[in-house]
Amino acid sequence: MCAAPGRRYFMVGGKGGVGKTSLSASLAVRFANAGHATLVVSTDPAHSLSDSLAQDVTGGQPVRVEGTDAPLFALELDPEDAKAEIRQFASADGGKGVNDFMDSVGLGAFTQQLADLKLGELLDTPPPGLDEAMAIAKVVQFVDGGEFSQFDRIVFDTAPTGHTLRMLSLPDFLDATIGKVVRLRQTISGAGNAIKGMFGADTSTPDEAVEKLEGLKKKLKTVSELFRDQDKMEFVIACIPTVMAANESARLMESLKGEGVPVRRVVVNQLLPGGGASTTEAEEALAEAKERGDEKLERVLKGVLKDAKFMATKRKDQERALSIIDDELGSKGGLSVARAQLFDIEIRGVPALQFFGMSVWQ
Ligand SMILES: Nc1ncnc2c1ncn2[C@@H]1O[C@H](COP(=O)(O)OP(=O)(O)OP(=O)(O)O)[C@@H](O)[C@H]1O
Ligand SMILES: [Mg+2]
Repeated sequence: MCAAPGRRYFMVGGKGGVGKTSLSASLAVRFANAGHATLVVSTDPAHSLSDSLAQDVTGGQPVRVEGTDAPLFALELDPEDAKAEIRQFASADGGKGVNDFMDSVGLGAFTQQLADLKLGELLDTPPPGLDEAMAIAKVVQFVDGGEFSQFDRIVFDTAPTGHTLRMLSLPDFLDATIGKVVRLRQTISGAGNAIKGMFGADTSTPDEAVEKLEGLKKKLKTVSELFRDQDKMEFVIACIPTVMAANESARLMESLKGEGVPVRRVVVNQLLPGGGASTTEAEEALAEAKERGDEKLERVLKGVLKDAKFMATKRKDQERALSIIDDELGSKGGLSVARAQLFDIEIRGVPALQFFGMSVWQ
């Protein structure tokens, strides 16, 4: 991950709360410490990158991460900006929706005919994932355009699974939809006046809206291509050792593979640390304390036994989940499985992220 030359993109995704933000931030710290100019970006509408880095990185521009000399920058993109950009297609004056839009591209007469495209729904209520896709497109534009071309490691902290999966299939869906509108518009522009009159289509309106649509289409195509770039992109699945998370991660892996997205590793986070008294040890000690009539020790050991039983049950659950992950994602899926321990402190700030990252990212 660190050694590969050239610009690389990493997306960390998975179920809610499994540690995507902590893992993304720690991976970015690791890259930066290895000398890569690194940008970590949150495209999750519910940001927590600032919390993870213990620093405000909102504001729409890469912010240098404090507390390290390494070349590390972070950025939280406001999904509202992307939504606003999408809404401008729906209506110039804010809210009349698809009819206005169709009028503005000179296709007012076709609004009904194009109903099956669900363009209205698309523009009035942007589908989940569209804001995230737009945010990613913006970052790609930043780093490809020269403004931030110094970055050679870009890590995306993504929204929980469902959102990410919808985002993956979005570009193709939008490509088809927008493509139809643009083609229809071109057909009408090229048609004779009589035909235009017959349909009541007004082609005198400027093609600005069509250009904007084409721009949107192009942006999403960039994202779509990047997602599937075998050399530049890697999607890292973040997971916790529960059967539910293991199953969801297996489905995520299948969907990613189905979409042609390069996925090579899964990180199982929040593994219970070893140590502590076993149930047998606690039971034996408790029996001895009872025999001796030591009531205080008996009380304490009852607590120890309760904790030991809890941990033993949890560990058994964890083992079951781990074997699913090892089988389904490791052996059958061909992914490398990395493990990260559950720590007794919250992982916040660069030193904590650095410590966390050292154990995860080998
Ligand atoms: N290995 C760990 N040890 C201790 N705490 C952890 C560990 N991994 C994550 N956490 C803590 O768990 C919480 C959730 O982690 P994080 O925010 O990284 O998850 P997420 O997958 O990004 O969540 P969301 O789906 O809400 O974006 C945070 O408080 C984080 O500090
Ligand atoms: Mg998060």
